[in-house]
Amino acid sequence: MLNFEFCSPTKFVFGRGTQQEAGRLVREAGGTRALVVYGGGSVVRSGLLDQVLASLDAAGVAHVEMGGVKPNPRSDLVYEGIRLCRENGLDFLLAVGGGSVIDTAKAIGDGVPYDGDFWDFYSGKAVPKTALPVGCVLTIPAAGSEGSNSAVITQLDGNLKRGLNVELHRPRFAIMNPELTFTLPRYQLACGITDMMAHIMERYFTNTPDVALTDRLAEALLLSIIDAAPVALANSTDYESHATLMWAGTLAHNNSVGVGREQDWASHRIGHELSAKYDCAHGASLSVLFPAWMKYTYKHDVARFVRFATAVWGVETQGRSDEEIALAGIDALQSFFTSIGMPHTLAEVGGCEADIPTLARSVVDGKTGHFVELYPPQIEDVLRIAAKG
Ligand code: NZQ
Ligand code: ZN
Repeated sequence: MLNFEFCSPTKFVFGRGTQQEAGRLVREAGGTRALVVYGGGSVVRSGLLDQVLASLDAAGVAHVEMGGVKPNPRSDLVYEGIRLCRENGLDFLLAVGGGSVIDTAKAIGDGVPYDGDFWDFYSGKAVPKTALPVGCVLTIPAAGSEGSNSAVITQLDGNLKRGLNVELHRPRFAIMNPELTFTLPRYQLACGITDMMAHIMERYFTNTPDVALTDRLAEALLLSIIDAAPVALANSTDYESHATLMWAGTLAHNNSVGVGREQDWASHRIGHELSAKYDCAHGASLSVLFPAWMKYTYKHDVARFVRFATAVWGVETQGRSDEEIALAGIDALQSFFTSIGMPHTLAEVGGCEADIPTLARSVVDGKTGHFVELYPPQIEDVLRIAAKG
């Protein structure tokens, strides 16, 4: 196990009715005037926004609202949010929605106290020293932003989708009521399931030896998600399966299963290029790329892929070579994604083979991955496998 520091300061308030606690929690975190950030309207239609605003009013928290955040959130609303915070003297960001809304709030929080352009942080020109605090009411189990140190924003001009990982980003609190996810479209829930599995697998495929504890935690999380997913997808009001997915999504990405081990993240990096170019859902980019990345890299450590196949997918080992077992594990993952309605070819997310060289070159820093380092020619190979599906 490698040395690590791990601080997860977020207060998680989980369960039915917890959205009523929003005002109290903002107050407790020191907020008096909040920018309430939300998306394209689901929280308006469900009545959640009104409940949250009523809770803020009851706690004496003044508020300004900013809706309209889109999936793969763009920089324009970050600038708008920074302006609203400055003009109204706001001291807290309350995100009501999913990863896109929470990430927008985090980026606004980065930008408000900074004299320059907030994009400096996302382009790697500067590092934020301070930020406005963020709290959230989560409505989709997926990105894990409610407990993570990341925010991912797409620059409006230029199609650049970039992430920033800083500890300042961890929310002060996350309200997590599984009932709030009952209104999710099936496809959106499947995208979220894919994303949380990807967060675990990015950490699972490592070169770090002696990580038995986090290996087993990762496998337990994957098994729990694989069990809960079909139940939640078949029954949109089944509380326990939605609750399992909601908490699993947080644990998948707050780094409790990633500490002390090298992590990969190539599939995410390449996936961000697909989302930036084709505006496909983040989870869809991952269901296309992760199996392709596995087919490209499994020979690097067949034993790890054999473990993945047997511990997570229960692949039959009798009469099979290690390589066959490893490949059967990858097939099992791909079949699972297909079973929940996720795409598996580049074309299904709007891509085409002709774009592959450009996509490969645009991956940030010109290389990605730690389990296996990938440079543009290797990234092209992964994308060609993704094109075949
Ligand atoms: O905008 P509204 O109308 O609210 O609809 C949203 C949106 O269309 C809808 N939705 C959310 N909750 C709902 C609901 N519809 C009905 N009922 C509900 N309860 O779902 C759609 C997707 O929302 P979004 O916030 O985009 O989903 P998600 O949580 O998957 O976030 C994806 C974004 O997070 C980034 C991704 O790259 C992507 O930009 N990520 C952020 C990470 C982080 N900050 O730690 C890590 C991840 O790897 C990821 O990169
Ligand atoms: Zn992700």
